[in-house]
Amino acid sequence: MMKESLICLMVLISAGLFAEEPKAKTIIKEDFMSYTAKNYDKLIGILGLSETLLKNHFTLYQGYVTNTNKVLDLLAQMQKDGKMGTPEYAELKRRLGWEFNGMRLHEYYFENLGKSDPLKKEGNLMKKMIADFGSYEAWEKDFKATAGMRGIGWVILYYDKTGDRLINFWINEHDVSHPVGCKPLLILDVFEHAFMIDFGLKKADYLEVFFNNINWQEVEKRY
Ligand SMILES: [Fe+2]
Repeated sequence: MMKESLICLMVLISAGLFAEEPKAKTIIKEDFMSYTAKNYDKLIGILGLSETLLKNHFTLYQGYVTNTNKVLDLLAQMQKDGKMGTPEYAELKRRLGWEFNGMRLHEYYFENLGKSDPLKKEGNLMKKMIADFGSYEAWEKDFKATAGMRGIGWVILYYDKTGDRLINFWINEHDVSHPVGCKPLLILDVFEHAFMIDFGLKKADYLEVFFNNINWQEVEKRY
């Protein structure tokens, strides 16, 4: 009887019934798209911001694009090398939001600058500003008050789709305190590099130049 059981076991083993399940192979993408810095030279000479200030700002923006690509490449390489459980991987993951948002926020900022027609009086955005703030002037006052706060960061008119509401937000850092699910409509850079070369501490003068140069068509398109 024992001999029969032994033969039976050997047959099962040879049939592979006790063989280990083959491990699923993790497929890792090998080629990655890189982000390319956009050219905003067309803004030079039309804004009331000096060429020196703008060129410095463009260079700073290009640095975010370079670093976004660098961080993404490093993370991909670490994934391939199986180094995902390391502190280096964790820190690069944390860094990615800062570099990526530094890139994208500058793009939105430069793209909502430039001469355009004024905000349409009968347009949807104007109607929404009036509905949510009482008047366009009240919205502008709140946006400027937010921008006038001491500190550096971003001021962003966000549209909260869930609550169907416009809100002017103060954003301390590129990667911190953006409202989830909201759409950025108008973006103002209030880091010192955005204005101090031309205006020193006179941030209010910078705000005037900014408001004289909002590309409202772009902002309306976002809304
Ligand atoms: Fe900036």
